[in-house]
Amino acid sequence: MTSHVQAYRASLLHFRNDPAFDDDATLWHTDGLLIVAAGKVVAAGNYSKLVPTLPAGCEVHDYRGKIIAPGFIDTHVHYPQTDIIGSPASGLLPWLNTYTFPTERRFGSNSHATEVADFFLAELLRNGTTTAAVYCTVHPQSVDAFFSRSHARNLRMIAGKVLMDRNAPEFLLDTPESSARDTADLIRRWHNKGRQLYAITPRFAPTSSDEQLKLAGELATQYPDTYIQTHVAENTDEVAWVKQLFPDARSYLDVYDRCGLMRERALFAHCIWLDDADRARMAATRSVATVCPTSNLFLGSGLFDFAAADRLQMPVSLATDVGGGTSFSMLVTMNELYKVGRMSGVHLAAQRMFYMATLGGARALQLEGTIGNFSAGCEADFIVLDPKATPLLARRSATTDSLEEQLFALAMLGDDRSIAATYSAGVCVHARQP
Ligand code: GUN
Ligand code: ZN
Repeated sequence: MTSHVQAYRASLLHFRNDPAFDDDATLWHTDGLLIVAAGKVVAAGNYSKLVPTLPAGCEVHDYRGKIIAPGFIDTHVHYPQTDIIGSPASGLLPWLNTYTFPTERRFGSNSHATEVADFFLAELLRNGTTTAAVYCTVHPQSVDAFFSRSHARNLRMIAGKVLMDRNAPEFLLDTPESSARDTADLIRRWHNKGRQLYAITPRFAPTSSDEQLKLAGELATQYPDTYIQTHVAENTDEVAWVKQLFPDARSYLDVYDRCGLMRERALFAHCIWLDDADRARMAATRSVATVCPTSNLFLGSGLFDFAAADRLQMPVSLATDVGGGTSFSMLVTMNELYKVGRMSGVHLAAQRMFYMATLGGARALQLEGTIGNFSAGCEADFIVLDPKATPLLARRSATTDSLEEQLFALAMLGDDRSIAATYSAGVCVHARQP
């Protein structure tokens, strides 16, 4: 080990598996040490065991009383919607028409896109989110602006240009040919540049022609390690509209399936109004449902069915969906996820929710071994959680009897104030002001 080794002393929390299906999944060290060098994890474990391995003179950052965990992973979020978060509407389609489309129009301007991207990235980091799968707008320059700012900060981000060639205002439309050309250019420019990764991003079936979706599917085959992200079965009016637009498809999900858009690294937001045949197809293709509880409650879209997802072994991950979602915080998102589970008789353990927000997200993105836990060699993206961040959380934390209760209290009472610091590739990128 060389002199650039950094060490962090705190309680350590990470996962080697999904605690819902493995009793030994949670890794917890009450007095732990995380050792980092050159932006990567060297070791994580008990303080007393690891401290003798540190090079002479290595500084140990003292975060005792706090919990170090992997950075959160938000698998579905829209950076151009930052400014319309919390805008009232009577459901998804009026919300898109009244707020989303007018605000996205402004991202034809590079300076506007850059300013919003900077604010958005700072907000993610303030909330402890170090990786996200991000929608840009129809404008290629909105993607260049986003990746430029993310690359300058050396963050691991996934993003893509929205494809939409019909059923939206003229000023937001591309064409099948221009969308395929722009997407291919952007993939070549940004995919695997530093820590940036590209997502082919048809907005949703109602705003894409069959031709556009087929070209997106061809790109997904041509570039198999890129991501695909879209929306599916979010709202009953939307589902009825898709049935009219694509009368030959067996289901909404089938519209995408027939165009070659279901595979590993394909992220389908919402997945509320699926049937079991759809869920089985998600499982068979290793496509991932990105569950967006704050958005689904806010827009009145519906309740995600966890029991059905688990029964059919449909891969799931956790997401904010800002600006339909009402918080950047993955802790707040866990809070609402838990309540959605309760409404269908499911009890989601806090450890499962923290898994979903960390290693589960990494697995959904096929990035296990790169991010998501503290295995040696992983990128050192981590957060420092403060169980005493507010008077109420401190009071509750003082009387918790187990790790599960402590994590549950953080999920129910926590928000951006619970993130004392955020590190990306071993560099402190956010420190909460006292
Ligand atoms: N469906 C199509 N576009 C959107 C969007 O921007 N947000 C949400 N929540 N659903 C969508
Ligand atoms: Zn969305």
